[in-house]
Amino acid sequence: MNMKDGKTPRTLVVYSTRTGQTQEIAELIAEGIRFGGAEADVKNVTGIKKESDLAGYDAYVFGSATYHGEMMQPMKTMLFLAEKLNLEGKAGGSFGAFGWSGEAPDRIFDTMANIFKMNMVSGPLRLKSASLGGGIKMAQDYGREVGKILSDT
Ligand SMILES: Cc1cc2nc3c(=O)[nH]c(=O)nc-3n(C[C@H](O)[C@H](O)[C@H](O)COP(=O)(O)O)c2cc1C
Repeated sequence: MNMKDGKTPRTLVVYSTRTGQTQEIAELIAEGIRFGGAEADVKNVTGIKKESDLAGYDAYVFGSATYHGEMMQPMKTMLFLAEKLNLEGKAGGSFGAFGWSGEAPDRIFDTMANIFKMNMVSGPLRLKSASLGGGIKMAQDYGREVGKILSDT
C-alpha cells in the first residue's frame, strides 16, 4: 500500500498494560495493519518519553487497560505528550482490555477525536481478552480498519 507521496504508511501502536492483555491486543491490531500493507510498530507506553518517540507516523492506535474506571496513568501522561505533536488529520484508533466497564478505550478515543482532531475509525475496540470470544479476529480486523483509512488518504 502506498500513500499519495508513494511511501508505505507507518503506524504506531502504543499500549499501557498491567497483566499483558492489552499488549496482546496491540500485537494483533498490528498484524491486521500489516495484512493491509502498512508498516506497524508496537511500543509499550513506558518506552515513550519524548515527542520524538511519537513523531513521524501516519497513523496512531493508542490503548490502555481500564483500572478503577480509568485509563492507566502512563497513558494519560503520554496523551499530554501527544498533544504537543500536530496529529490533526492523521488516522487513529483506540483499544483496551477490560473487565466490566471498560472506560479507557472510550476516553482515549474521545481525546484523539476532539483534541487531536484525528481521522478516527468508527469507534474504540474494547475486548475482555485477546483470545476469548473471537477477540483475535476482532483485533486483527480493527487493524485492517485503520489500514483502510490510510489507503483512502
Ligand atoms: C484492581 C482492579 C481494578 C479494575 N478495575 C476495572 C474497572 O474499573 N473497569 C473494568 O472494566 N475493568 C477493571 N479491571 C479489570 C481489568 O481491566 C482487566 O483485568 C484487564 O484484562 C486488564 O488488562 P491488562 O492485562 O492489559 O492490564 C480491574 C482489575 C483490577 C485488578
